Amino acid sequence: MKTPQIIRESPVLLLQLQLLLLLTGVCIDGYKPVIIVHGILDGPKQFSTLAFHINKVHPGTEVTVIDLYDSWASLEPMWKQVQGFKKAFDSIVQKAPDGVHLVCFSQGGLICRALLSMAPDHNVHTFVSLSSPLAGQYGDTEYLRKVFPDCTKKLVFHFCYNRVGQKVSICNYWNDPHHRPRYLQGNSFLAMLNGDRPHNDMKAWRENFLRIKKLVLIGGPDDGVITPWQSSHFGFYDSDENIVEMRNQETYKNDTFGLKMLDTRGDMSVCVHSGVKHIQWHSNYTVFSTCIEKWLT
Ligand SMILES: *[C@@H]1O[C@H](CO)[C@@H](O)[C@H](O)[C@H]1NC(C)=O
Ligand SMILES: *[C@@H]1O[C@H](CO)[C@@H](O)[C@H](O)[C@H]1NC(C)=O
Repeated sequence: MKTPQIIRESPVLLLQLQLLLLLTGVCIDGYKPVIIVHGILDGPKQFSTLAFHINKVHPGTEVTVIDLYDSWASLEPMWKQVQGFKKAFDSIVQKAPDGVHLVCFSQGGLICRALLSMAPDHNVHTFVSLSSPLAGQYGDTEYLRKVFPDCTKKLVFHFCYNRVGQKVSICNYWNDPHHRPRYLQGNSFLAMLNGDRPHNDMKAWRENFLRIKKLVLIGGPDDGVITPWQSSHFGFYDSDENIVEMRNQETYKNDTFGLKMLDTRGDMSVCVHSGVKHIQWHSNYTVFSTCIEKWLT
């Protein structure tokens, strides 16, 4: 009774096998999907040029700009946004067994940093952080004026470092170098993510983050928004507002979240460009071709 059944089923099985081989072939030859996470007060619309550039050099790449927390909704708390973005991210990743690339702009870079730390089995190959305040933000910028019209950088800490303030995304990565203890105690996002304030999940978060194959850090001195601009490369102010570059940061030296490991593994690429304003990073072709293109295969 059994033999005929197998014979009857085998053509279907063979077809499935052929289809599977075909699909695998397509996936190996094709480019990995690219997921883009937008920044503060913007959304998918701003990234059409970048998507165009990617498809021009890598035809057929599936590029998704996650359409969540656009515009003013980008001021929602970071942890809440991370949850939302993670759902969208997971559903794309499930359909991409060979992995994906993440390109994250400005505030989006921190959302991606958090997302990668909290995804134990993610398959992100390249993580491009495009002018993100990775070590925090401390500056009087047009964005600060939009959100806190009557407030200068010196006073923002009064509002930011408490429960109410932490409900605004900017406060989640506001890093006032003159009020370090208040930052360490009152910041519920960046201080945890970068291990400035040690916590029990740090080891697991580090391992998850280290699953990426390549970290690409992009930024430059004419950015005009990310302050100090070196924050885009994990550098930041000390209490005298002198720049302490990434490799001299305590979290780097302690390898708190895997930065040093990525660096020693040879999996960190640092790109500096002058002459690029904050909102131009994602559409500047020179930046794309020199810093991003080669990692999106
Ligand atoms: C770095 O390590 C030193 C020595 O173990 C420790 O005292 C300090 O708190 C650590 N700092 C961070 C940011 O992890
Ligand atoms: C694009 O990037 C190049 C290289 O850094 C820079 O010189 C140029 O000013 C930029 N152009 C724009 C429009 O941002």
